[in-house]
Amino acid sequence: MSAPDYDPKRVDALSPEQLQAAVAAAVAAFDAASGLDQLAAAKTAHLGGNAPVSLANKEIGVLPPQARGDAGKRVNDTRKALEAAFETRKAALEEQRDARVLVEERVDVSLLPGTVLEGGRHPLTTLQERIADVFVAMGWEVAEGPEVEHEWFNFDALTMPADHPAREMQDTLWLAPENSGVVMRTQTSPVQIRSLLARGLPCYVIAPGRVFRNDALDATHSPVFGQVEGLCVDEGITMAHLRGTLAHFAEATIGPGLKTRLRPSYFPFTEPSAELDLQCFNCRGSGEPCRVCSSEGWIEIGGCGMVNPAVLVACGVDPERYSGFAFGMGLDRTLMFRHGITDIRDLYEGDQRFTLALGAEA
Ligand code: DAH
Repeated sequence: MSAPDYDPKRVDALSPEQLQAAVAAAVAAFDAASGLDQLAAAKTAHLGGNAPVSLANKEIGVLPPQARGDAGKRVNDTRKALEAAFETRKAALEEQRDARVLVEERVDVSLLPGTVLEGGRHPLTTLQERIADVFVAMGWEVAEGPEVEHEWFNFDALTMPADHPAREMQDTLWLAPENSGVVMRTQTSPVQIRSLLARGLPCYVIAPGRVFRNDALDATHSPVFGQVEGLCVDEGITMAHLRGTLAHFAEATIGPGLKTRLRPSYFPFTEPSAELDLQCFNCRGSGEPCRVCSSEGWIEIGGCGMVNPAVLVACGVDPERYSGFAFGMGLDRTLMFRHGITDIRDLYEGDQRFTLALGAEA
């Protein structure tokens, strides 16, 4: 059978004109980017999954086999041209940035030292300690666990076995060698397990600490952030204790009269589970337009629930006799809400002006 008379150049998205136009548009966008952030956005638009060149690539599959080579080569050349244009612009912008940094951060070593700033406590540390204080005042103990953790503590004992979908909710950083079973802890929840195993019962612990996830650093994500975990296991513990404890916590840490709200949710290690919302300290749910909570009236600050009996069993605790509740809260988000911080990177750059401005009243 002879091949159908078919000209791939006539598939619109694959025509040389369209592909050249895509290159021209991309080069214009790359050149117009005045900084690396803008360039990254232009890259997504012109080289990302929905960029014309990517859409063109998808069209190749519908061509008859004999037409694919030609079209494929054209798309490939286009992509290479786009990548080269991107790299050229990136190198130029990086050079500009480096030159600017050299000027802006120039240090005049001949200057006499001015007032030496004493170090300030970091606002995240202050917030962690204030939260811990509230619980210590109720008779709880502060617990710690390692940041490099075994998957059994981080996942399995918390009823997240290897094939459990919830593991995918937390992008895990695994430590080499492959299959070492060792992770950078993705949550402070493994401290629950360590506390139950090491401290015995009854157990009332609060565990602040850093956790790690495979996330790129941008304005709203950081590969390292703070959490506070709480765990109480005793005889006769009910959801009313959870409710009351968190209500007290909210008032004592953030402000008197602030309400809390529980919304049904799912976590593998609690049953039932809930999302913990805090009444917005700014508008207090008045219904007025509010930037802090996007006029929702509530701010989500963490998860909680009644400890899953399977977790108790994994720690050798008799679930017929003991019950408990647990909660985990994000520290960074709480701090950002309270102070109107819009870029999480401010928390990790170690700029003393930031630390001193916020540290005193985190
Ligand atoms: N570990 C959870 C997370 O990082 C947060 C969490 C939710 C902790 C519910 C808890 C809990 O102790 O009961 O997403």
